[in-house]
Amino acid sequence: MSKHPADSAAPAADWWRGAVIYQVYPRSFADSNGDGMGDLAGVRARLPHLQDLGVDAVWLSPFYASPQADAGYDVADYRAIDPVFGTLQDAEAVIRDAHALGLRIIVDLVPNHSSDQHDWFRRALAEGPGSPLRGRYHFRPGKGEHGELPPNDWESVFGGPAWTRVPDGEWYLHLFAPEQPDFNWDHPAVHDEFRSILRFWLDLGVDGFRVDVAHGLVKAAGLPDIGRRDQVKLLGNDTMPFFDQDGVHEIYRGWRQILTEYAGERILVAEAWTPTVERTALYVRPDELHQAFNFQYLGTYWDAAELRAVIDSSLAAMRPVGAPATWVLSNHDVTRHATRFANPPGLGTQLRTPGDRALGLRRARAATLLMLALPGSAYLYQGEELGLPDVTDLPDEVRQDPSFHRAHGQDGFRDGCRVPIPWTKDGPSYGFGTGGSWLPQPEGWGELSVQAQTGVPGSTLELYREALRVRRAQPGLGAGDALQWLDAPEGVLAFRREGFVCTANTTGAAVRIPVPGRALLASGDMEEADGDHVVLPADTTVWWAV
Ligand code: NOJ
Repeated sequence: MSKHPADSAAPAADWWRGAVIYQVYPRSFADSNGDGMGDLAGVRARLPHLQDLGVDAVWLSPFYASPQADAGYDVADYRAIDPVFGTLQDAEAVIRDAHALGLRIIVDLVPNHSSDQHDWFRRALAEGPGSPLRGRYHFRPGKGEHGELPPNDWESVFGGPAWTRVPDGEWYLHLFAPEQPDFNWDHPAVHDEFRSILRFWLDLGVDGFRVDVAHGLVKAAGLPDIGRRDQVKLLGNDTMPFFDQDGVHEIYRGWRQILTEYAGERILVAEAWTPTVERTALYVRPDELHQAFNFQYLGTYWDAAELRAVIDSSLAAMRPVGAPATWVLSNHDVTRHATRFANPPGLGTQLRTPGDRALGLRRARAATLLMLALPGSAYLYQGEELGLPDVTDLPDEVRQDPSFHRAHGQDGFRDGCRVPIPWTKDGPSYGFGTGGSWLPQPEGWGELSVQAQTGVPGSTLELYREALRVRRAQPGLGAGDALQWLDAPEGVLAFRREGFVCTANTTGAAVRIPVPGRALLASGDMEEADGDHVVLPADTTVWWAV
C-alpha cells in the first residue's frame, strides 16, 4: 500500500500542479445501503478503483447536511454529514483510507449561499425585519407602492427572479434556487464562520477545497439594476453586478493564509465563471487560490483551431501569475463530453439529444488523451473513464435538477450526467448498490460497467488507466507550462513536450503525417507506420515518445 505523500517526511512539493483530480458525485457513485442514493461508505469501498485508475486526488461534491433542494449545494450545516450520505465517522474513514491508498481528498465548500434550512436563515426569518441575523443575508424591502416588486431586476441562474418575498413582506436574494439564500459577505460574521469551517475540515485532514461559485460572494454596492433580461445567457461572457467583483479577492487572500498554516500543501480550487481566462487568472495569483477550473476549455468544441487558441490563451493567462493551467471536459453541471461531441457544434453545454454515439465516444477518447498531454492539472468526472454518454431521454417526471423545473423544462438538463454509474454487468442498479438508483439507469448500462471493461484491450477504461500510467511514468508530462506547436495538416494538432509528442486529428478523415516517434498510446485503432509516414485515423489522438 503506498503512503500518502503528505504523511511522509518530505511531502511532494507542488503535487497539485500537474495532478489528475477525479470528481466523485457522491449520490451517483456507489450506494452501500441499498437506498438508491450513493453514500460515503460506498465511496470508501470503491477507492481502490480510483487508485487502480491512477488519479492523484479525489474531489467530492457536497455530502453535508442538506434538504437536497440542489443536490447538496444547499447546505444546512457545514460541519455535519447528511444522513443520506452517512456520518462524520464515514467522512473521516474516507479521508483516512484515501490517504493510505496515496490519494488526496478535496471537498466542496459552498460559501455563496446556504440552505434556507440553515440555522441562521431560519432564525433570520423568525426574528423579522431589522433583526441582526437578517444582515447575514441580503434582505430588502420590495419596490412598488406596497413593496410587491423585487428590490432589483436580477435573475436567478436557475431561471425566474433572484428574489423571493417572505410573509412579513421583505425579499431575500438567491442567485440560485429560492432554497439557496445568498450570504452577505459584507458581514464579518460570515467571514468568521467560513474561516472556522475551513479549519474544521483541514483539521479532519482534507487536502483542499473546491470553492463553489467562487466568483459570486461579493455583490456590487447598492445591488444595482442590470437593465436587461436574459441575464443567464450573459453569464460567463459579461461582467454582472453579482459576479466576478474585485472584492472577492480579499477573501481568498485570507483563506490562503489559513491553508499555509497546515502541512502538506492543501489547495483551493475556484469554480469561477468569468468572462475571460485573464479574469480567471486573478483568482490564482500566488497569494490567492491554487487553481481555477478552465471553463473556456470545457466549452470548446472538438475543433483543432479552436482548441489550439484556447490552449494558448489558457497557458498565456496563467504564466504571469505562476499558476498551473487546468483542463476539464466534463462535470456534474454539463452534458458529458461523449455526448457533446456526438452532436454538432454550437449547441452549448447542456444538451438533450444523443447524437451519433459512436462518433461521440471516438472523439471523447481522443479529447481525453489530448487533455492529459497538456501541461497543468486535469479534472475527470466520474464515469467518463467508462465512456459514459449522457442519459438524454430521462422522463421529465424523474428529473430533479431545480433549474429544469424553474426554467419550465426549457433548460437545466443536468440530471443526464448524474445518473448512477455502472460497476457490474448485471444486478440491481448494475453494482451501484443492492437496491435501485435515484435516477433510472438506461438499458445496457452494464455493458459499459467497470467489470465489463476491465482487462478488455482497447476499452475506454483501459485507455484511461494506460494514459494515467504513461502520464506518471513520462517525466514532466503534466508539469510546467511549456508546449511547442509543430507543423501539422489542417484539423490536426501536434505539439512537443520534453521527450514527447502528441498528435490529435480532429477531422473526420484519416490524415497521413511523418512518423513523430515511437507510438506510446492511441485513442483509436492505428495502422503500423509505412516507412517514414503513418496514418492518423479520423478523430484520434496519439502519444509518441521522441
Ligand atoms: C455550481 C455547482 O457546481 C452547481 O451544481 C450548483 O447548482 C451551483 N453551483 C449552485 O451551488
